[in-house]
Amino acid sequence: MRIIIGSDHGGYELKGELAVRLKKEGHEVEDIGCYSKDAVDYPDVAQTLCTRLLKDGYDFGILICGTGIGISIAANKIDGIRAAHLSDAYSAAMAKAHNNANVITLGARTLGVELAWNLVESYMSSSFLGGVHQQRIDKIAKLERR
Ligand code: RB5
Repeated sequence: MRIIIGSDHGGYELKGELAVRLKKEGHEVEDIGCYSKDAVDYPDVAQTLCTRLLKDGYDFGILICGTGIGISIAANKIDGIRAAHLSDAYSAAMAKAHNNANVITLGARTLGVELAWNLVESYMSSSFLGGVHQQRIDKIAKLERR
């Protein structure tokens, strides 16, 4: 898969760990930063990643901040982005199956590396079910255009 990943300073270390594991499994990973633990504002990271994702056609994006909440709120302000904040494996699978989330968000200060990796794997091994779920996603897109 082609994956784009980004974080603020709170998610910098987890981002690096997940990128290494994804690459080891043969995925293409584009890291849009941040590139150090110096403080950056998570809305800027969300904007950069989501703009690139929509323009360059990645399979999905991963955004990480301290809790995963702020970066999720910011990403969901962008038309065309369906960002799912994940903390359990069932929701990770449903985020793909029912919501066709194109971004997942994770909290580096709330998840250990192994749980975060499990959530990424659960999302990636799930498939969008379409049908009534597509109808509901179409309704979300209409909310964007109000
Ligand atoms: C940064 O300190 C922190 O607020 C941020 O990483 C995130 O947790 C916001 O939701």
